[in-house]
Amino acid sequence: MKTLSIDVRRAEPQDAWGISETHRASWLQGYGGIIPHKPLMQMVQRRDEHWWRKATRGPATLLVLDVAGVVAGYATLGLNRAQSLPQDGEIYEIYLRPEYQGLGLGRLLFGESRRLLKSLGCNGIVVWCLEDSEMAERFFRSAGGLDIAEGMEDFGGKELKKIGFIFR
Ligand SMILES: CC(C)(COP(=O)(O)OP(=O)(O)OC[C@H]1O[C@@H](n2cnc3c(N)ncnc32)[C@H](O)[C@@H]1OP(=O)(O)O)[C@@H](O)C(=O)NCCC(=O)NCCS
Repeated sequence: MKTLSIDVRRAEPQDAWGISETHRASWLQGYGGIIPHKPLMQMVQRRDEHWWRKATRGPATLLVLDVAGVVAGYATLGLNRAQSLPQDGEIYEIYLRPEYQGLGLGRLLFGESRRLLKSLGCNGIVVWCLEDSEMAERFFRSAGGLDIAEGMEDFGGKELKKIGFIFR
C-alpha cells in the first residue's frame, strides 16, 4: 500500500518556485473581486520565484506544507508587528493552493506555526485577515481566535478593513 507523506518543514531555496505558484494561485482565488485587479496582479508578480528564494533567507520564518514533495501551502511567522497588542508572535501569512484547501491541512500548518512560535518563547500570537475574506475569518474563528482588533489597509486607492485575531 502506498502512503502519502504530509510534512510541515522550514522552506529551503529550492522550494521557491512551489511557494511562488502557491502564492499566485491562492491570492488570485482568495482576493479576486476583493482587492482591485491591478494592485492584486502587481503584488502577485512582484513575489516571483526570485523574491521567494530571498525570503527563505529573510528575517521571517518561512514554513512549507509539503504533500508528497509538492509545496501545497506556506506560512510566514515572526514577532508581532502591532505595538498596541501585547502578544509576542504573529503569523503574517498562511496560504494553501486552492486544490488542497478544505482538507484539514490549513489547520495542520496553522498548528505547527503556533507550536513553533511558542517553542521560540512567544506568549500569544496575532493573525490579521481581510474582513471580506470570509473563508479566512471562519478558519481563524474555528481555530479559537478572538477578533479583538481592526485596521484599514490601502490597496491601490481602495481601503479595506482588516481584522486582528489573537490566540493564547
Ligand atoms: C484559510 C486557509 C489557510 C484554511 O486552510 P484549509 O486547509 O482550507 O482549512 P481546513 O480544512 O484546515 O479547515 C479548518 C476549519 O476552517 C473552517 N473552514 C475552512 N475552509 C472553509 C470553507 N471553505 N468554508 C467554511 N469553513 C471553512 C472550518 O471551520 C474548518 O473546520 P471543520 O473542518 O471542522 O469544519 C485556506 O483555505 C486558504 O489558504 N485560503 C485562501 C487564502 C486565505 O484566505 N488565507 C488566509 C489569509 S490571512
